[in-house]
Amino acid sequence: MSNRRILVTSALPYANGSIHLGHLVEYIQTDIWVRFQKMQGNECHYICADDTHGTPIMLRAEREGITPEQLIDRVWHEHKADFDGFHVEFDHYGSTNSGENRECAEDIYRKLKAANLIEVRSVEQFYDPAKNMFLPDRFIKGECPKCHAKDQYGDNCEVCGATYAPTELINPYSAVSGAQPERRNSAHYFFKLSAATCQKFLREWTRSGTLQPEAANKMQEWLGSESENKLSDWDISRDAPYFGFEIPDAPGKYFYVWLDAPVGYMGGFKQFCKKITPDETTSHSTKLPKDGSQVAGYPGLPLSGAGLFDEFWKPDSNTELYHFIGKDILYFHALFWPAMLQHAGFRTPTKLFAHGFLTVNGEKMSKSRGTFITADSYLKQGLNPEYLRYYYAAKLNGTMEDIDLSLEDFVAKVNSDLIGKYINIASRCAGFISKRFDGKLGNIDSSATAEFQSALKNDEIAHCYEQRDFSRALREIMRLADVANQYIAEKKPWELAKHEGKDAELHETCSTALTLFRDLTLYLKPVLPTLAVQVESFLNIPPLIWSDIRNPLSVGHEINTYQHLMTRLDPKLIEAMVAANQESLQPMTKSHSPVRHAEAQQHPIPSSLPSLKGGEAKGMLANDGATAIPHFKKGGPGGGAPIAETISIDDFSKVDLRVAKIVNAEHVEGAEKLLKLTLDIGEEKPRTVFAGIKSVYDPEKLKGRMTVMVANLAPRKMKFGMSEGMVLAASGDSPGLFILSPDDGAQPGMKIK
Ligand code: MSP
Ligand code: ZN
Repeated sequence: MSNRRILVTSALPYANGSIHLGHLVEYIQTDIWVRFQKMQGNECHYICADDTHGTPIMLRAEREGITPEQLIDRVWHEHKADFDGFHVEFDHYGSTNSGENRECAEDIYRKLKAANLIEVRSVEQFYDPAKNMFLPDRFIKGECPKCHAKDQYGDNCEVCGATYAPTELINPYSAVSGAQPERRNSAHYFFKLSAATCQKFLREWTRSGTLQPEAANKMQEWLGSESENKLSDWDISRDAPYFGFEIPDAPGKYFYVWLDAPVGYMGGFKQFCKKITPDETTSHSTKLPKDGSQVAGYPGLPLSGAGLFDEFWKPDSNTELYHFIGKDILYFHALFWPAMLQHAGFRTPTKLFAHGFLTVNGEKMSKSRGTFITADSYLKQGLNPEYLRYYYAAKLNGTMEDIDLSLEDFVAKVNSDLIGKYINIASRCAGFISKRFDGKLGNIDSSATAEFQSALKNDEIAHCYEQRDFSRALREIMRLADVANQYIAEKKPWELAKHEGKDAELHETCSTALTLFRDLTLYLKPVLPTLAVQVESFLNIPPLIWSDIRNPLSVGHEINTYQHLMTRLDPKLIEAMVAANQESLQPMTKSHSPVRHAEAQQHPIPSSLPSLKGGEAKGMLANDGATAIPHFKKGGPGGGAPIAETISIDDFSKVDLRVAKIVNAEHVEGAEKLLKLTLDIGEEKPRTVFAGIKSVYDPEKLKGRMTVMVANLAPRKMKFGMSEGMVLAASGDSPGLFILSPDDGAQPGMKIK
């Protein structure tokens, strides 16, 4: 079987924020997969880079009083250190602000233009007259048109969760200068995604097995039916001042950051090709890199840098290309990127591997709860990065489901699986080999290895890794660890050691256990690469590759003295880490400065705009999220609206919540949305409350039911009468409104606290 040739990427992190545990889901997932491929003997290149362009980075550098180049250089080193710290081993970690990337971006642009797929159109956009720049949506603030909360962003309201166009804001102002923005027209360059050739190509491409089923469905929704043609053209230019690449034939116009970001995969690979054959222009010889480690695992490269680049990017390439991404950026990777590649005459990705979002303790990461944990703070706490790699692997199954880091479960799982099941095997048996048998292994008990042999038959574990079902791989590996532990428990080497004449049995037991330990290490190596290196050194064996699983350790093989491999995870370290990440949100939410944007704007995508239909989207102002892009909410169907500012218990207890019995419910003449409710909360006279729930509740069905009301809300005079309180109801992004019910047994008037 010939070796596969694979190019793998992770999404390029923005150069304006720190790497956090959410990001690491992706980089760890990709790294495990890449390490597995390399252990299989495949030629696999893992490329990534910082995503360095755009308004937030430009403004942040300005605030810090440095150039954008200085900023991205500093962040590059921070990111690289974080990735190194978690053993994410790229073959190349570049930057989108490179000469190679500029070449690739210009090349693609020129080819799209030659294919008649670039069009110039005038776009109206908010302009900051004080700062002399056009403003992306996230840099315009004002009063929410729906709930009238002040200081909300131009694309959505953090108080009520409404989404809107920046033009709908009341009293808009520039978050950069505070000035009142003006509407101005400017020429923008569009990639004609609405062209028949793009729509046709994308319809086929997204259905051809390149996407996970959930993603393919989402794409069908976005593409619409053949007659609908839902895609609108994509605005790929931004006006100066902008930190990015100037468009070749358009002075003062820059490529929008999302154009040259995916091109960064190519640009990064180009840099890698140059790195491994640095003298290609002066010599015809092919050279392996000096630090052979980075391209070890496959035979010498037969090509010069340029040749290698073409091999991977030419249209009929027989190499494989995989992009690991978060579900939030699927749109860019499943539509814009393949359409660009296809129409510029390059190969398209073999597959996109999208993953879900990380929650911590079941909730969105939050600075106020201390669960917005940076990679750096984890490492600074002295926590072993392989704990997290193991935990993420145990949760990842190759789907787009969100994954939860439950901190309690994290401690329990690491301690029970890694320490209790795996490390223990070596720590209980290795000492005897050193002390009693000169460090030499004896016979292997084949009855004990039978289970391992049968697992090997279908190479089930390899299959799970290949499918990115790491959680299943680890379950299987832990099952084998149980088998090994059971063997040790039955043989009781510590007892054997105390009895005379049991030496042979002791020797065999410990040698067998260490062989099984070697097998488990091999299987775990993609997840625990540095631990595996320690084990290789302890067992005195060359770096483990997948095929080693077929060769047991031999009789007489000499091992080194066992050194402690891994300590238990101390929950106190987790507490300390959470405390270190805890921030009061108070000063930040009050601030009008754009500092928060740059940080919060991890995704330059409007959270959701009404539709993709050409006319509407174009009618709206151009924004830094390009055209109207529907995207997955990060918090599931109900999520989306951010958690409000932290309050004290005293603040909370000011709200008097009571169990209320709905004694009567009726329609109100002339009211479109309201029902009139009569509520008993144990007072002499029942209360009257008008509730906006007419569209979802039949008054007859409400009568007699219990619910929850705010009893101390100031009475409000309404068109139809006085409302003496408020009933509570849940609502989210998806349609529906749901009033609350207490559990059976609650009585009218009971206080809720
Ligand atoms: N710069 C863009 C990607 C450009 S790719 C050509 C970007 N950067 S990012 O820093 O915001 O995110 C980088 C990757 O990390 C994305 O795939 C994103 O989905 C992922 N994650 C960021 N936060 C995450 C979680 N909380 N959970 C899981 N993945 C997350 O997007
Ligand atoms: Zn609002």
